[in-house]
Amino acid sequence: MAVKKGVPRIVVQGGNRLSGELSIQGAKNSILPLLSGTVLCQGESVLHNCPNLTDADAACRILTCLGCKCVREGGSITVNSRHLLNTDVPVELMREMRSSIVFLGAILGRTRECRLSFPGGCELGPRPIDLHVMALRKMGVNIEEEHGYLNCNAPKGINGAYISLSLPSVGATENIILAAATAKGTTEIHNAAREPEIVDLADFLNKCGAKISGAGTGAVVIEGVQALNGAEHEVIPDRIVTATYLCSAAITRGELVLKNADSSHISAIIPVLEQMGCSIYVYGDNRIYINAARTLNAPHKIRTSAHPGFPTDAQPMFMALASTLKGTTVFVETIFDNRFRHAQELSRLGAKISTHDRVAVVEGVQRLTGAELEATDLRGGAALVTAALFAEGTTGITGISHIDRGYDDIVGNLKKTGANITAT
Ligand code: UD1
Repeated sequence: MAVKKGVPRIVVQGGNRLSGELSIQGAKNSILPLLSGTVLCQGESVLHNCPNLTDADAACRILTCLGCKCVREGGSITVNSRHLLNTDVPVELMREMRSSIVFLGAILGRTRECRLSFPGGCELGPRPIDLHVMALRKMGVNIEEEHGYLNCNAPKGINGAYISLSLPSVGATENIILAAATAKGTTEIHNAAREPEIVDLADFLNKCGAKISGAGTGAVVIEGVQALNGAEHEVIPDRIVTATYLCSAAITRGELVLKNADSSHISAIIPVLEQMGCSIYVYGDNRIYINAARTLNAPHKIRTSAHPGFPTDAQPMFMALASTLKGTTVFVETIFDNRFRHAQELSRLGAKISTHDRVAVVEGVQRLTGAELEATDLRGGAALVTAALFAEGTTGITGISHIDRGYDDIVGNLKKTGANITAT
């Protein structure tokens, strides 16, 4: 592939061993529902440890469009949602961020009406919202789908309900919690998602006056309250960014200390790295140390599943790493249909990967060699950067706007720990 002039690229000269310390940013998948949660509050909320991400900027633009005052100062975002002026989110803003659907439950909870454009498909295959819609209907919300829009209202108010999810959808669990926080009566969610970001959302809303229990388990109970006030809250560390830098250390057979990380959120990831031959120590004030052996062995099988299982969002970076290990790794992707697009790009570097539906077989090789690559989604893009750290010669990566959605200065962080990497 020829290098296109003027197109932003990340350029990596592979082969440098990483070493040093990095601080883990706040979690992208927390900040979005938290910002949405501020819509429920009749006052000011302050969120700390907010990463500088294009997805967070998009969420702030949605808040501004709703009439909230949203101001960022360094890592803190202050949202004043005392007066909400609008209940519609324009299609351009919805398109900017796939997960903008998480505003649905919050806007409905506050105003009992909402008009959003249908979020549509995405780079990981179709992204249905049937569970969100089913749950909100059960809570008394009228939802009509027409001309690509969801027109929602609940003139008689939102009622608590018993909701059993056929699968533990993260977004549906968040939308139900948001809509239920100020509903009439009690809502119970059965088979709720158990991700740490759900716990973070519940913690924030409880500080604001909500009554939510059981977050982090499959059974969440929300007792509706009259109204919420704003609160101050610190966003949890990003477990997928933590996984990315652990993979970066491992693929360069390097060593890193990750500060402000939460090892309890990556309990399915640490044993896989240890099985490969990495030494990992968790110590002190939220620090994780990793030191990779010179020769690492394939872990044989990685099967993604809902939390606390192996996260689908870490699968691409582990595939990059597996390409360089001794032996064969079989990946089974159980969450999304179309999540191996990075495999083809990794193959351009010399990785030996064959994919069949939701299974990918990766035969480790001793060398990868630099090439021109294109990121087509966020974590797939991070996987290409990870592989490029190992590949001999120069790798150029375009499509970096995907990476900017979820990584706060990945280039600066890798550079300061020894990578030869630049953004042009
Ligand atoms: C969230 C994360 C995303 C992660 C995913 C799975 C955010 C902003 N994004 O996405 O990074 O990859 O969890 O851990 O937090 N599904 C349905 N019907 C629905 C909803 C979901 O069939 O109504 C299916 C999806 O197609 C997918 C699976 O359920 O196959 C999991 O999706 P879900 O947990 O909802 O993911 P998101 O909340 O979109």
